[in-house]
Amino acid sequence: MAFFTTLTSRTFSHSAMMSNSIKNVTVIGSGLMGAGIAQVAAQTGHSVIMVDIDDALVSKAQKRIQDSIQRVAKKKFGENEEASKFISESLSHLTTSTDAVTSVGSADLVVEAIVENLDIKKKLFMQLDKAAPSHTIFASNTSSLSIAKIADATDRKDRFGGLHFFNPVPVMKLLEVVRIPETSEATFSKMTQFGKTMGKVIVQCKDTPGFIANHLIVPYLLAAIRLVERGDGTMEDVDTAMKLGAGYPMGPFEVLDHIGVDLFKSISEDWSTRFPEEQAYRVPSTLVKKVEEGKLGRKTGEGFYKYN
Ligand code: 3HC
Repeated sequence: MAFFTTLTSRTFSHSAMMSNSIKNVTVIGSGLMGAGIAQVAAQTGHSVIMVDIDDALVSKAQKRIQDSIQRVAKKKFGENEEASKFISESLSHLTTSTDAVTSVGSADLVVEAIVENLDIKKKLFMQLDKAAPSHTIFASNTSSLSIAKIADATDRKDRFGGLHFFNPVPVMKLLEVVRIPETSEATFSKMTQFGKTMGKVIVQCKDTPGFIANHLIVPYLLAAIRLVERGDGTMEDVDTAMKLGAGYPMGPFEVLDHIGVDLFKSISEDWSTRFPEEQAYRVPSTLVKKVEEGKLGRKTGEGFYKYN
């Protein structure tokens, strides 16, 4: 069964524009986060275009979405007809493209979830700014970069903000909605409403490093790596301690493999450059080594742990 279609056209959402709601969503980037955002947006009735640079990446994301949406459907409806209907209806809202510029032509909202690199994100938004209608809101799902610095690439800072989702997006209930000083009330309200429509619980954040959750999670994960580097505990014991002693669903090394060791290395490199005086943000040598070895976590079959 052909689950997905490739983008040919999407109707311009006059109604969404007039009614203050977001209907047409373009998600740029089809990695773990981008695919998850596209999936949940489609599940909740938005018309979604998911974009990546080539067909291979898009196909990989489609496979991930198919697996995930089946789990969501099973949880919601069991294994009956309603589950199949939910899956086919959700996927009918989702198209794919490898052309970011044409994919924003009728977007009410663009959510960017590409590599954590400020220059690459700015270059993308500069191009999209010229191609998107004036009402389109731009949001970055960056984990750690400054939203204001990304927004600098555009002439729509009043229609710019952060929408920071958590992995796995179909499961994690939190959405951080980030505003910069220029973000208009109308933009903030539309982003918040969009998040609620996606079934998320919203927390309002300022454009500070890591917003709320990652501001606390990042130093914690770095401290766990350093603890093991010093030989003060084993990785397995640290994970067990945090699961059974603090009630966390995953230990820090499981979380690192879950989110991607390379993503986490980018975050800590960026923060250690921005805040050189902050010892807690220094990049541990273990992270550098893991990335050099291609041990990036679950997605490559090995990170701190090995996976089948
Ligand atoms: N899609 C759909 N459903 C999924 C899923 C996915 N990708 N992953 C898990 N699920 C569902 C399962 O189907 C299962 O449903 P059920 O309750 O009906 O059986 C349920 O979630 C639980 O899954 P599992 O039984 O497979 O495993 P766990 O009970 O261990 O839960 C987990 C998995 C939800 C990932 C849980 O371990 C967890 O919450 N871990 C913490 C994750 C975390 O810390 N995320 C934040 C990382 S930081 C971040 O994202 C910010 C970024 O900027 C870096």
